[in-house]
Formats: sequence, structure tokens, C-alpha cells
Amino acid sequence: MSKIEPILDEALLKLQNAGLNDIETIRIEYLGKKGKITEMLKNLSELSIEEKKQFGAEINTAKTKLNEAVENKKKEITARLLEEKMKNEKIDISPAFAFPFSKGHKHIITKTIREMTDIFVSLGFDVAEGKEIETDWYNFEALNIPKDHPARDTQDTFYLEGSQNLLRTHTSPAQIHIMEQTKPPIRVVVPGRVYRNEATDATHSATFHQIEGLVVGEDITFAELKGTLSLFIHRLFGQEIDLRFRPSHFQFTEPSAEVDIKCVICGGKGCRVCKQSGWLEVLGCGMVHPNVFKSVNYDSEKYTGYAFGMGVERFAMFKNGIDDMRVLYENDIRVLKQF
Ligand code: DAH
Repeated sequence: MSKIEPILDEALLKLQNAGLNDIETIRIEYLGKKGKITEMLKNLSELSIEEKKQFGAEINTAKTKLNEAVENKKKEITARLLEEKMKNEKIDISPAFAFPFSKGHKHIITKTIREMTDIFVSLGFDVAEGKEIETDWYNFEALNIPKDHPARDTQDTFYLEGSQNLLRTHTSPAQIHIMEQTKPPIRVVVPGRVYRNEATDATHSATFHQIEGLVVGEDITFAELKGTLSLFIHRLFGQEIDLRFRPSHFQFTEPSAEVDIKCVICGGKGCRVCKQSGWLEVLGCGMVHPNVFKSVNYDSEKYTGYAFGMGVERFAMFKNGIDDMRVLYENDIRVLKQF
């Protein structure tokens, strides 16, 4: 009886320090056909029945324990080897992803154009494109701005060398192209880039964007103009925004008006952005001038219409609390990410 305990201890100790290849050898040494523990069972015959029972049971317990220990040791070692293998064979793939795969998105100006045109589309307007290179006729003459008219001075024009062409100073010439190509009813907006020969500062840029609008039909009224543009402003800036129509002058509309909104920066108290006036000018509009209809051979006795034009950058700035137009063009990624 006393023999079994030290033999089991001896086996367990050997196991403890064993490598994977030693385990089977140890098992055979103790539990194999001629193993040390198996041999002990052969000596049972010399014992009394009582002793046989007790000793036999002890040997079996020892066998079970050792078998378990053998299995555990195997598992432990295999797990450790696998872990080591994984650690050694690990490949660092992070350099493959070293530059960030951040997704791009639309520029704030594009987004603003989409947002603005979407409102008009929801009201039944079509969307058209004009041309960036125009002639004097389309940019001025056909819009009732004659050669010697002072209104030309307010739009410093880029003329293209060696040709009659110029870079459009506004999107209004698109009105002429559209009326030349279609018959009323017309209900269209035209977003696009325009050019003016002026120095860049916080509120000016030599290239910027406008959205032109033109509605022509029978019985189109100033009331419809007011309703449509008020609805547009409210959709864009929220129902609470205060707006006003202020009489103005444009060569191609009569009567003409400008729309102001209550300053979104100071709420109307007066600040740098609204130049202390409490109001921000957001668009020009009016009823299409009969001379413009004449340019495209429309019968101004039969048709009436209204037109409007607005600067996209101003809307982008007012909507997003940007107080310097230049940040829209510098394309600093830290700025672009915010919109
Ligand atoms: N073309 C004008 C500008 O660039 C804006 C404008 C005013 C357009 C009144 C219009 C309009 O169609 O009716 O300043």
C-alpha cells in the first residue's frame, strides 16, 4: 500500500518537467504493459482478499490520476506550442493600411447647391445648365444691358483675349438660352459658376456660384414670385426666419426686388457680418422685363414671368456660420471634414 504513493508522486514529478516527446515514454514507464504501476497489480495475488480490495482500488485511483495528468500535460503543452507558434509567425499587416481609408464626401458648395436646387425640384422646377463662356449678347445685351450702360461697370468682366467671348459674370444669360430653346411654360433653376474680375477678400471671390431661376407662362404674377421665394427661404433656413422683400433695380426685371433675411449671426441686433444692419441680402429677383422677352421673340403681351438669382457661397456661409468666403476654396482638409 505504501509503495503506490511514492511511485505516483515520482511519475507526476517527471510529467511536470516533461516535454511533449517525453510524455508517452513516461506513460509507458508507469502505465504500459510492463509499467511500474501495472506491475503492482500482478503482485496482488500474494495479498489477502481484504488487502486485495483496498490495494486494487488504490492502484486504480493512481492509474486514473496519472492518466488524467498525462492528458492534461499534453493539452497544456500543445496549447503553449500553438501560442508560441502564433506569436512567432504573426505578420504585422498594419503598414498595408498605413494611410487612412477615410471616405471622401461632397464639397460644401456642391452640397449647398444640391440642397437649394432640391427645394425647387420639389416645387416642380427643372434643373438646367448654362455656359461659362458667353458672348456679350447673352451676358449683357439680351438682358437689357446695352453697351454704354453703367450697369456693366458693376460687373467687372473677364474678356477672353482674341475673341468676342467672355466669362459669364452671372447665371442670367442661361435665361436667354433656355427661352431660345423652349416655349413656355418654363419653370427652371440653373446652378453654375460665374466669374468677376475682382480682388478676393472675406466676402468676394473672382469665381463663385449662383443659382438662377426663371418661370415664364401665362398669368405668372409677382405674388407667385413672393410665395415661391418665401417658401424656399423658409425651407432652407427654417420656418422661424424673418425675411423681407425690398425694392431694387436690375436691368432685366421690372419691377425688381431683393430679399433679405434677418441676420443669422446676430439675430438682427447688428454685427460685422450684416454690417450693423441686422439684415442679410440673399437674392435678387423681379418680373422679367419686356425687353428680355423681345430678345428671344416672346410675346410680352401673352407671357409674363419672374426671375431670380442668388449667390451659393453666401447661403453656404450663412447656413454654416462661416464668416470668411476664402475657407470655401482653400480646401483645407480640416475644414472640409466639418461639413
Ligand atoms: N444676375 C444678378 C446678379 O448677378 C442676380 C439676379 C437678380 C438675377 C435679379 C435675376 C434677377 O434673375 O431677376 O447680380
